[in-house]
Amino acid sequence: MKRIYLLFLTLTTAVVAIAQQSFLIDNRVAVFYPANYDAAQHQPSPIFLRELAPISQNLPDDWQLRPRFTKENGHSVATFEVGDADLYGCGEVYGDLKRNGETVGLWNKDNGLYMTEGGKRLYQSHPWVLGVRKNGTAFGLIADNTWKSKLTTDHQVRFDSEGPAFRVVVIERNSPVEVLQELAKLSGTIEMPPLWSLGFHQCRHSYVPDTWAMQIADTFRDKQIPCDVIWMDIIYMDGFRIFTFSPKEMPNPKAFNDYLHSKKFKSVFMIDPGVKVDPNYFVDQQGMANDYYVKTKDGKPFVGQVWPGDTHFPDFTRPEVRRWWSTLYPDFMATGIDGIWNDMNEPAVFDGPDSSMPEDNVHLGGEGLAEGPHLRYHNVYGYNMVKATREGMLLANPQKRPFVLSRSNFLGGQRYAATWTGDNASTWEHMKASIPMTLNMGLTGQPFNGPDIGGFARDCNGELLAHWTAIGVYFPFVRNHCSLEEVQQEPWAFGQQVEDVCRTAINRRYRLLPYVYTLFRETSQTGIPVMRPVFMADVNDETLRSEQQAFLLGGDLLIVPRWAEKPALPKGNWATFSMENGDDGYQARLALRPGSVLPLANLYQNTVDYCTDSLTLVVNLDEKGLAQGRLYEDDGDGFNYRSGDYSDYQLKANTDGKTLTVSLQKIDGKRKASNKRWLRIAQIVKGRLVYSNWQEGNQAVVKLRKK
Ligand code: NOJ
Repeated sequence: MKRIYLLFLTLTTAVVAIAQQSFLIDNRVAVFYPANYDAAQHQPSPIFLRELAPISQNLPDDWQLRPRFTKENGHSVATFEVGDADLYGCGEVYGDLKRNGETVGLWNKDNGLYMTEGGKRLYQSHPWVLGVRKNGTAFGLIADNTWKSKLTTDHQVRFDSEGPAFRVVVIERNSPVEVLQELAKLSGTIEMPPLWSLGFHQCRHSYVPDTWAMQIADTFRDKQIPCDVIWMDIIYMDGFRIFTFSPKEMPNPKAFNDYLHSKKFKSVFMIDPGVKVDPNYFVDQQGMANDYYVKTKDGKPFVGQVWPGDTHFPDFTRPEVRRWWSTLYPDFMATGIDGIWNDMNEPAVFDGPDSSMPEDNVHLGGEGLAEGPHLRYHNVYGYNMVKATREGMLLANPQKRPFVLSRSNFLGGQRYAATWTGDNASTWEHMKASIPMTLNMGLTGQPFNGPDIGGFARDCNGELLAHWTAIGVYFPFVRNHCSLEEVQQEPWAFGQQVEDVCRTAINRRYRLLPYVYTLFRETSQTGIPVMRPVFMADVNDETLRSEQQAFLLGGDLLIVPRWAEKPALPKGNWATFSMENGDDGYQARLALRPGSVLPLANLYQNTVDYCTDSLTLVVNLDEKGLAQGRLYEDDGDGFNYRSGDYSDYQLKANTDGKTLTVSLQKIDGKRKASNKRWLRIAQIVKGRLVYSNWQEGNQAVVKLRKK
């Protein structure tokens, strides 16, 4: 027997209560359906890996969180009473880490400088809330709804949609980490990215002609500032025609990419969704001939203004259009392109309503997805685009891990693309806000993200770039990018002192790569974010719940920006240390969790040269004189790791009071060790790393030093 609850009755006509049904779909995970739910308006869901299957029709008697479904002035609403829980997540949001007392628009918006609506509606939508109760237990709320909506997060969490009634999923767990793991189980994780994408990226709108980009690459090498990727923004195209190259700005893309590769760089090229209306252009010819474009309500291909002028928009809800889109990549990428940047995919339309398409434009759907209006499909335009782009990259290079960066996306889209936080400004406010923004994306199932370091719009300056780089190197995605008319903001653009600060910070990133790569492996398996809020170090310490200056990289490394004022930090013997001998006054303070072992690489200028045969293991023993860590290694690209070609090591340290022993023990994986391993131990003494000599083998023993 299905249990039906009638929860809410009112005499006013504006608010109409709706009955509901509920099912358990996993241990302490429930789905709630409003009685007037029409699956055809919502399924197949973009969020879930597979359709939700009930395991029981009975929720436990003590189940707390139940939605109230109502119809209010034509809107479909689901409301939860969450009491005084602290709220996080909510996707790409500008503002504080803690989301209590906020309303955000779930309607993707090209929101330059976050100026429109005070930045309360940005490039992507995530109908998701993570709640943490005072006692540390946690819950997750998902509205399985792509239609235009608003999300209010306070004592009540309210999903208010302009579309038909939608179902909601409630996850109940003992901690926020467990909630995120369950979200990952339902919605998927990121795939393991290529190692090179975790290095430093340099971008500008736009390094053209190509010789300028080559000079930029050379300057990184000449100045010995590590870097892996040079990015090509739209001007490389021939008249903004996607999948083409400008004869003037990028006359020989193959030679260009060969040059970058010879200097051990990778290239990422931009592809927008919009196709220039041009009967002589092969992409538009194919799109028109096959009728692949989003249509107006009158059934004509919709035309809007974007960079190329009149532009058509592929209807990515259609499987055949996604297939076509993917076939455009092999020739394009055969020029040696390594990664793809999908921009403007909210979709942004300069002359459209709310800078997008009319809400009554028509998408045809397919493979179970019904034909529907843009009001339903707007929020998943970018999502469906990057799904197709990823397929295209795999078609082009089946042996390589695709790296796609997308400006727009939706909950679940972490499976297809990484992201960045769009067009921020070169201001202190936006630098500071980039921390909670990146954290909340991680708390929304999208761990691979970061801001434009230095700021996109307005002129950066040396002081800002130095501080932003000094924290940005600990973000999951580390890219310096700025706009067309802004002053240059490469690490060397503001003189020697700023250049030195940036080099030191980027050197730190490269030395941390063994740890960072291991964290990406972890998140690709579990959904636990790479960059984490400080409260995750101790969920029972309520004083940490709002901390948004300091943050954690993984579970072991605490990052405290130099400008942080009275940050709330976790209790215990976290050992503060610097990775250099001097102090330039800009580098973030680092602190290692008691009981942890942090693997560091030697310094390399890029991930082509990068090698972990020699590892430094930084140790901070706990009160029992023990410490642990983890190290994951594989090819750094390709898919052999999926069939076991990887090594997972446990790092262990202990002491007898006089000596310190640190070992590296393989606990999983079939990967053969290629070379002999050299280890050295770094002990933290008065804030400095004191290194042992290099020792051959998987174990090192040294004299224990006093802290
Ligand atoms: C908007 C993107 O957000 C920005 O990063 C890019 O540089 C410009 N489009 C030009 O392509």
